[in-house]
Amino acid sequence: WSFVAIKREMTLAMIKPDGLSGNYTERIKEVILESGFDIVKEAVVQLDAERASLFYAEHSGRTFFDSLVNGPVLVMILERPDAILHWRVLIGPTDARKAKTSHPNSIRAMCGVDSEKNCVHGSDSPQSAAREISFFFGDVRSDPVEHDEL
Ligand code: TYD
Ligand code: MG
Repeated sequence: WSFVAIKREMTLAMIKPDGLSGNYTERIKEVILESGFDIVKEAVVQLDAERASLFYAEHSGRTFFDSLVNGPVLVMILERPDAILHWRVLIGPTDARKAKTSHPNSIRAMCGVDSEKNCVHGSDSPQSAAREISFFFGDVRSDPVEHDEL
């Protein structure tokens, strides 16, 4: 018998206030599960301006900063092999108008409006994923390796 070790990875996904109020949650979760992710943890969190500015600290000073997420969000830890990259591909480009034309099957094409109202968030690197997961969920341990039989 031989085995190959598949390293699972976690990323932080968020359904932003516009995604929640547009009632896209169930459809987005279906897409997540159909795409091979496990939803490891989830929570509805009320993000006030102060918490939102901590979460988006990298964008402080940008013109759009003041209107960044303010309201209830659904945060989820998603896990699968290469979760960070897969989730970014699945959500599509930041500008939902571009998503609708060039990435029509993406989540932002489904529920976003423009580059501000783009309904979902995804961590963009292993460093961001670690920071964002602990921002909402504290210390979370992943099942490091799943063994598939060859
Ligand atoms: P960014 O990290 O550049 O995009 P992404 O969400 O794809 O990682 O920007 C973070 C959020 O800031 C973005 O989802 C929505 C908001 N934003 C705007 O409102 N206007 C903009 O022009 C940009 C670039 C971002
Ligand atoms: Mg980003």
